[in-house]
Amino acid sequence: MRKIIIAGNWKMNNTISQAQDLIAALIKNGGDMHKVEVIVAPPFTALRSVYDILGQSSVHVAAQNLFWEESGAYTGEVSPMMVKEAGCKWVIIGHSERRQIFGETDETVNKRTAAALGSELKPIVCIGETLEERDAGQTFDVLHRQLDGGLKGLTEENMAKITIAYEPVWAIGTGKTATPAQAQEAHEKIRAKLSSMFGAGVAEKVRILYGGSMKPANALELLSLPDVDGGLIGGASLKAHDFVDIIKAGIEAEKL
Ligand code: PGA
Repeated sequence: MRKIIIAGNWKMNNTISQAQDLIAALIKNGGDMHKVEVIVAPPFTALRSVYDILGQSSVHVAAQNLFWEESGAYTGEVSPMMVKEAGCKWVIIGHSERRQIFGETDETVNKRTAAALGSELKPIVCIGETLEERDAGQTFDVLHRQLDGGLKGLTEENMAKITIAYEPVWAIGTGKTATPAQAQEAHEKIRAKLSSMFGAGVAEKVRILYGGSMKPANALELLSLPDVDGGLIGGASLKAHDFVDIIKAGIEAEKL
């Protein structure tokens, strides 16, 4: 049984005070949130204040990125221990915006993932094809390449601590969602690839999240798919009401 994860990726949104308001609204309206695994990923500056407000709540905090060195002359970077001490249990790695805007590669994804594991942070490793790649029939080659490169050198034990997020780039922030058939097909192929890399036992347990314009209106359908084990939500995670509705869809899907 793979427990559903509902993770909110706030991206570069919310100052400390705005983050505090959003998290307070989430706690107030979240109901039975503990029935699924709820994660929020605020920007670095708001991590600690969000963590402090969460207190005993079941919601966990994720960083949106980290650097692989422990400390040193890396202006602008943040280390695993820094985000850990700010309250993070999780970290998003290799988001398509990092890949496309900031030149992240499978190799740097691999280094960050290994560094996160070394500090006992749980990585959410993002993969996904662009529209051109899908149209050219390259979707699964791209996903395989990203998995081979991003997870290179990791052990079965490592993989048991990793979550994958399948986020078709053409669906992120566009309002265009993968159809249930497209999502299920990609997730199934990802699990099969993980099985060939780490064994069937590990692959069966790995949670694979879907990301890309997940909203209250489409969440239940996507979250009910056999190989979709949760969602990584951008835009809709910035409105407490929408995020709570997606959490409710997750609780509903968990029962199916
Ligand atoms: P979106 O973003 O829900 O706004 O499409 C998802 C993501 O980038 O993680």
